[in-house]
Amino acid sequence: MFSGSAEYYDLVYGKKDYRGETDRLRELFRRFVPEGRTILDIACGTGEHLRFLPEYRVSGIDLEPAFVRIANEKRPDGNFVVADMQRFDLGSKFDILICLFSAIGYLLTAEAVLSALRCFKAHLAPGGAIFIEPFFERNAWRTGETHIATGEDDHRKVCRLMTSDRKGDVSILTGHYLLAEGINVRYAVERHELLLLDRGQWQDFFREADLNAEYLPEAFSSRGLYVARSSSTNPS
Ligand SMILES: C[S@@+](CC[C@H](N)C(=O)[O-])C[C@H]1O[C@@H](n2cnc3c(N)ncnc32)[C@H](O)[C@@H]1O
Repeated sequence: MFSGSAEYYDLVYGKKDYRGETDRLRELFRRFVPEGRTILDIACGTGEHLRFLPEYRVSGIDLEPAFVRIANEKRPDGNFVVADMQRFDLGSKFDILICLFSAIGYLLTAEAVLSALRCFKAHLAPGGAIFIEPFFERNAWRTGETHIATGEDDHRKVCRLMTSDRKGDVSILTGHYLLAEGINVRYAVERHELLLLDRGQWQDFFREADLNAEYLPEAFSSRGLYVARSSSTNPS
């Protein structure tokens, strides 16, 4: 998915306010898991949120090996592995699980989403909470748009055009990249597919996975945030 552009991810998202997001997350962690000390970042990407959480012991998983390597460089004290969020077993539990920037949307079937939620729950320590930033809801997704993002550092430049389309309940994003290192420029294209789900569907999935979830529309980002806890250890 990101193999053509992984090394440029932090440049493409250089204007995304990871520090501000992490400040909001920290407040939520203190509210929902005040005793929390350990975080598992599921689909951690380059580990940009974890970079701003030095007070926590951190772990992360991602499908993309280059991201796992970059995250490990940012948090050498952390534990990062290549794994699929649908089926992983790290053999340990965490106080706080996060799955941010709509990464969960890459799971394209109900079975995959449920399997992931069950896996998340299996890694949740008693009293812990799972924080999931969902993708767009079905009616909120706009097709036929092209967005541009650019970024640069001392020796690299990137320009990405991302187009939006849709097939049923699957959004289709095509990223066209121009990637320059010095005067060497290459072109790469990536196709991303993310599932569009409504809040009612999310609540059905959480229930089926034996989780109680609360939706916070504004607490984190415009996409909202689910905070889920185990139904068995935290009856509401
Ligand atoms: C939009 S990025 C978000 C990355 C990071 N959480 C952030 O906020 O920058 C989506 C991430 O999901 C990862 N991903 C997609 N499907 C995955 C899967 N089945 N298991 C693990 N990671 C996955 C991608 O490799 C990518 O790092």
